Amino acid sequence: MTDIETMRAISQDVYGAPDVLQETLLPKPAPGVSEILVAVHAAGVNPTDWWSRAQSTFIARLPQVLGWDVSGVVEAVGVGVTVFKPGDEVFGMLPYPGGAGSHAEYVTGPARVFTHKPAGIDHVQAGALPLAALTAYQALVDTAGVRAGQRVLIHAAAGGVGHLAVQIAKARGAYVIGTASAAKHDFLRSLGADEVIDYHSVDFTEVLSDIDVVLDPISRDSAARARSVAVLRPGGTLVSILPVPIDAGELATIAERGIRYESLLVEADQAGMQAIAALVETGALRAHVEATFPLAEAAKAHALGETGRTSGKIVLTVRDSKAQLAQQLLHDVFVLGDTAIVDRVVRPDSYIQHNPLAPDGADALKYFSGAMRQQFPQAAFEPRRVITDGDLVLLHSRYVMVPGTEGLAVFDLFRFQDGKIAEHWDVIQEVPATTASGNDMFATLSEPRTDAIGQRWFTAYHKELVTAFVDQLLVRKDLTAIDAYVGADHHEHNPNIPGGAAGLKAGLGSYFDKFPQLSVTPKRVIAEGDLVAVHSHYVDTPGERGRSVIDLFRVRDARIVEHWSSEQAVPETAANDNTMF
Ligand SMILES: NC(=O)c1ccc[n+]([C@@H]2O[C@H](COP(=O)([O-])OP(=O)(O)OC[C@H]3O[C@@H](n4cnc5c(N)ncnc54)[C@H](OP(=O)(O)O)[C@@H]3O)[C@@H](O)[C@H]2O)c1
Repeated sequence: MTDIETMRAISQDVYGAPDVLQETLLPKPAPGVSEILVAVHAAGVNPTDWWSRAQSTFIARLPQVLGWDVSGVVEAVGVGVTVFKPGDEVFGMLPYPGGAGSHAEYVTGPARVFTHKPAGIDHVQAGALPLAALTAYQALVDTAGVRAGQRVLIHAAAGGVGHLAVQIAKARGAYVIGTASAAKHDFLRSLGADEVIDYHSVDFTEVLSDIDVVLDPISRDSAARARSVAVLRPGGTLVSILPVPIDAGELATIAERGIRYESLLVEADQAGMQAIAALVETGALRAHVEATFPLAEAAKAHALGETGRTSGKIVLTVRDSKAQLAQQLLHDVFVLGDTAIVDRVVRPDSYIQHNPLAPDGADALKYFSGAMRQQFPQAAFEPRRVITDGDLVLLHSRYVMVPGTEGLAVFDLFRFQDGKIAEHWDVIQEVPATTASGNDMFATLSEPRTDAIGQRWFTAYHKELVTAFVDQLLVRKDLTAIDAYVGADHHEHNPNIPGGAAGLKAGLGSYFDKFPQLSVTPKRVIAEGDLVAVHSHYVDTPGERGRSVIDLFRVRDARIVEHWSSEQAVPETAANDNTMF
């Protein structure tokens, strides 16, 4: 008898509430003719997932594994497949409705529903896109043929489909109007919406007319549809993406007004995926991921989605990303005092430690965390920013060891090797009660005010810009670098430096005057999206041991707009031989 290879999957034997979803072991599938087998890394969750979980819909075959979105890595190809090979990173939507099954560690699907994942986005981003982006693309581009200058109304514009539709319509050069609750208007504007309407307080039929295209994910009956028809110009198109019946009489009334009505059901579509990938690559399209859940917590993802109030997408992570592993390690070790994770994510034999208080090795990390836990049983850890750059993951966090204190501003830097953490550096600074700029050490004050990584497609450019800036300003001590690189309304979080570009110039000017022999040696640069960190050795006066410093910059529109940092004196002696660099 041969062993059957199994995989984890979220399956259900009955229809019902989210708790019918169970993590189960199922046979790992094999790719059939013209199919590929994908190791799923992330998979979006869509309204059709929670509908199909609750009742028999288009698919009626219990037990069932749901999930149409896929982002992952090709594990094997079936007979006849030439366009992909094992190891390729791909994303796509499985054939709707019958092809579901991505809420699992592996899934098979026709090769021609996938395309290559853009290198500039991670699997979570890519897994968020397929079904929602294809729906928006097929509605706006394939069905309505949206052109530059047209007026496009997108209902539920903050939702999974809507927020991508706004960006796709903008990329076509349209004038885009979106409906959403007022609290989501800044979000819609950040996506490029030209006009936003709070559907709770404003009747859109009273403020809109001459619309060319309406994308409608909300109208369930003829009265609701008539309102969208009323704002369309003759010759305009209403694309409904709610698969609800419409009778011949209503269709005739709509046609009499010269309006085209289409009801769209999304189709698996390689050409559409290629168009979506191209929009991602040019920076025109990006999924907003409101929440991620590990595969085992699929029920929680369904429950959140079912509220109908989320912005952007919810994604299941099937294989943990390096950023998640690093955060989980710090959380479990310092907040829970649970060191089981160390065996799972840290290299047992060769964990290199640069924290001067801790020796090398995974066991030492466990011991160290136990000692910390005993001393600070109520320690809390709040990660604010996480940057992944190749094998390096940098976390910028506030640790509060004793409740009620300001805590510590900490940068933890991890290096991964073969999927496990192999090396760790950190820089720890006490948070002072007051700062020269009045800004705290953690907030994001530049626009958009989010701690999320933005503009990943500019990572390499931002890395180059900050490297050149640091070289000119800190290595060569040339203050004119501030004029060349820093925005006038710069936000400063180093507690000793005043705010604004002028404050930075004054603060650094007096620091350079005080220490004319200052030497700054950058050791490594870590960048993702609009965030670039530089880990450097600062020596104020020759012969001193100096300080380990991490400077973190945010770059927007080719200007440095914000700076956070932590610094720590290099001690005389350390528990390891690795130096702090
Ligand atoms: N035909 C197809 O192939 C297809 C494909 C994909 C989706 N769909 C359908 O399209 C709909 C939307 O899907 P989705 O993934 O975008 O869902 P979603 O992400 O769950 O949508 C949530 C968003 O809808 C907004 N919303 C709800 N009622 C609204 C209203 N009356 N006016 C304006 N905004 C409203 C909410 O904003 P507020 O909090 O501001 O209300 C929320 O941001 C679902 O019914 C789905 O089944 C169909």
